[in-house]
Amino acid sequence: SEVLKVGLLGLGTVGSGVVKLIENHQQELRHQIGLPVQVEKVLVRDRSKARDVVLSEESVTLYGEEIVENANIDVVIEVMGGITLAKEYIVRALKNGKHVVTANKDLMAVHGAELLSLAAENGCDLFYEASVAGGIPIIRSLTDGLAADRITKMMGIVNGTTNYILTKMTKEGLDYEEVLAQAQALGFAESDPTADVEGLDAARKMAILATLGFSMDVELDDVVVRGISSVTKTDLEYCEQLGYTMKLIGLADRDGDRVEVSVQPTLLPKEHPLAAVNDEYNAVYVYGEAVGETMFYGPGAGSLPTATAVVSDLVSVLKNMRYRVNGHDGAKPLHKKTLKADNE
Ligand code: NAP
Ligand code: HSE
Repeated sequence: SEVLKVGLLGLGTVGSGVVKLIENHQQELRHQIGLPVQVEKVLVRDRSKARDVVLSEESVTLYGEEIVENANIDVVIEVMGGITLAKEYIVRALKNGKHVVTANKDLMAVHGAELLSLAAENGCDLFYEASVAGGIPIIRSLTDGLAADRITKMMGIVNGTTNYILTKMTKEGLDYEEVLAQAQALGFAESDPTADVEGLDAARKMAILATLGFSMDVELDDVVVRGISSVTKTDLEYCEQLGYTMKLIGLADRDGDRVEVSVQPTLLPKEHPLAAVNDEYNAVYVYGEAVGETMFYGPGAGSLPTATAVVSDLVSVLKNMRYRVNGHDGAKPLHKKTLKADNE
């Protein structure tokens, strides 16, 4: 086809970011893949809800079948969240030969292996970069950039909501409930924020990272989890007075075949680089036997940062050649360079 047609399951924080990014970055997308991208159909639960993106009446549906069974749609993007229905739609999309991009760590942490096998059986891609650390390309870095190395340890902050809460409680003395409400309003928190504050969201992400980084089947149940819901402002004040900063740290450590994965509130000396990662930002150290220490840093949640990871997965699907237009050469520069000094 002359246009890449995308079906979007969900139009919330991430879904609306995906629509905006596809609209606003058409030139970049076309340069990368040689085709214009069009959002053909979007699934929502409530048609009457106010949205910050404008879509035609006929492109919005209450029925996921109109996306996963739609012969006009090439790629399905799942950003509705939850497990049962999202899984059902992804399975149907893959069985119908559609490539799938998802941001859903709840699903990938538990059913990832099964869904990836199904994708392979059907000759489809299933990409999930946005499921860990929002806008940071950490999955691609493990499976591509560091693929030749033997990863021994990963450590970092992989939940934006709890980092936002701890930052604002520590630096601005705000109350837990007040900051949690802010994180929800900003679109960082999960629809049930218990998953964030009890460490489950970070545990899901660490299970995904450990599975990929260590090439082992690390399950959610293998992760030792403690959250931050019982941390008080007074606890944080004491930490600061003693020269420490509290962060919710995910750790995945491997010694040969022995693996240890955990998520827990941890006291870091103030001069530790992770102590300076604030608000919704995430950062992950990855240690490889050959490369040594690497660090990945960036926005871990939010509409456009997460959409960047989702839409970049869409580009990867296309770059896997199925839709690449003959003769299209994305290696040529898109823009003519003007040095800033020439304009001064
Ligand atoms: P959200 O704001 O709650 O949006 C969910 C969207 O899906 C809404 O548009 C909702 O429709 C629709 N939806 C949900 N259940 C549905 C159903 N049963 N039938 C029809 N439509 C349904 O969620 P989000 O923050 O965008 O997160 C989406 C996914 O991305 C989740 O898996 C989340 O874990 C993941 N994620 C989020 C972030 C982030 O920063 N928010 C970052 C990385 C990954 P209505 O709008 O009509 O209610
Ligand atoms: N609720 C998640 C977080 C969204 O706060 O990190 C990004 O995965």
